[in-house]
Amino acid sequence: MTELDTVVRNANVVTATDSYTADIGIRDGRIEAIGTIGEAATEFDAGGRLVTPGGVDGHCHLDQPMDDGSVMADDFTSGSISAACGGTTTIIPFACQEKGKSLREAVEDYHRRSEGKSVIDYAFHLIVTDPTPNVLGQELPALIKDGYTHFKIYMTYDALKLNDRQILDTLNLAGREGAMTMIHAENDDCIAWLTEALETAGKTAPEFHAASRPPVVEREATHRAISLAELMDVPVLIVHVSGNEAMTQIQQAQARGLRIYGETCPQYLFLTADDLAAPGFEGAKCVCSPPPRTAEDQEHIWRGLQTGVFQIFSSDHAPFAFDGVEGKRVAGAGAKFRDIPNGVPGIETRLPLLMSEGVLKGRIDCHKFVSLTATGPAKMYGLFPRKGTIAPGSDADLVIWDTETEFTLTNERLHHNVDYTPYEGMKLRAWPSTVFSRGVIVADQSQCSAEPGRGLFLRSAPPNPPRSGSI
Ligand code: URP
Ligand code: ZN
Ligand code: ZN
Repeated sequence: MTELDTVVRNANVVTATDSYTADIGIRDGRIEAIGTIGEAATEFDAGGRLVTPGGVDGHCHLDQPMDDGSVMADDFTSGSISAACGGTTTIIPFACQEKGKSLREAVEDYHRRSEGKSVIDYAFHLIVTDPTPNVLGQELPALIKDGYTHFKIYMTYDALKLNDRQILDTLNLAGREGAMTMIHAENDDCIAWLTEALETAGKTAPEFHAASRPPVVEREATHRAISLAELMDVPVLIVHVSGNEAMTQIQQAQARGLRIYGETCPQYLFLTADDLAAPGFEGAKCVCSPPPRTAEDQEHIWRGLQTGVFQIFSSDHAPFAFDGVEGKRVAGAGAKFRDIPNGVPGIETRLPLLMSEGVLKGRIDCHKFVSLTATGPAKMYGLFPRKGTIAPGSDADLVIWDTETEFTLTNERLHHNVDYTPYEGMKLRAWPSTVFSRGVIVADQSQCSAEPGRGLFLRSAPPNPPRSGSI
């Protein structure tokens, strides 16, 4: 046997199912062996610390063209460096079709935007906004065969939304071709009606974003999305679930044996609608859709993570700067809530927040952590077992954790190109001390040493989520 490149010694290995202490032998970027291992060219002592699979962020937005004049603050370089420093080694952002244009062109454009930039591996989701006969008959089936096996559709936003008939056609195609459909479930007409009513009453500040998209708006659309999926007999994933009402729809569908999956995000555990009511324009920092809900909803979302309603915990990183004219203030300093770009940053804080507040505070165990942040998304998006676990043959994507040092989270320590974090001032006790991507250290003590462009584009196999609610 030729010599191993690297051995990570004395690792407290945690996967979605197991934990044990072992050495991890790495050759050519892959895990060669796990156990008691002899010499290697490079030695790394994990010192008995927790070692989890590199995170797979199954939902983030980087350098995505916008239609309102705003510009995302992170491209594939700054976004991937930030991800790596936070323990994520695979990212899946979105190639978005422009209505009236080709989906294949959107993919080619997104490859140009990502080429030579990422420090970690990446795949693409598609966003289907215009399911014409040509898109459904030619482009999408061909793209699915080429390794783009998962796509998102929207029930809201003028530039993105599909009507129910279009959703049915698209789900039917997904079922036939074996793709996974992610659904942004909010009722667009309700949002439009409520927005107009709020504006007529002079209620245009950021805090009214939440009132324009109350839980019933998300609950109704979630129920409808599930019904359409049931009619077509296809699996779907409801993304960024914000609270109890939508979650209950998913839970009930799962209890009926439907292949309905759920994703939630840090903003629904750590923010509430009150954060949108911060003084002045500050609330704009937390404007995202669906909006953060109540403290009670946060508890329900924790319960959904514990009990397997959710298979995926993603960042939904949507990087818009607070200052300047390209981000949250694109429509002016005191813009109406309807004109504030939607989304919050969080690609670097996703894993530390869940490890610190979830695992270390006893809300979830470390296996559930791995399942939600790595194994679940890797299976959902056809990247498992190359990504999402620690096993012989898998890529050597590893996170060595420091779970002993309490610190206060500030935006200064983050590597994204956004000028704020919604989690400023939180006290945390977990941070990745060293992060390996394909056997190479890409982040050490929050310093990224990797060359942009080393990250590989990953073609996705057919999605393979389990039949039951838990992974
Ligand atoms: O507000 C959000 N979530 N913005 C990002 C785009 C999306 O719908 O995921
Ligand atoms: Zn969405
Ligand atoms: Zn998103």
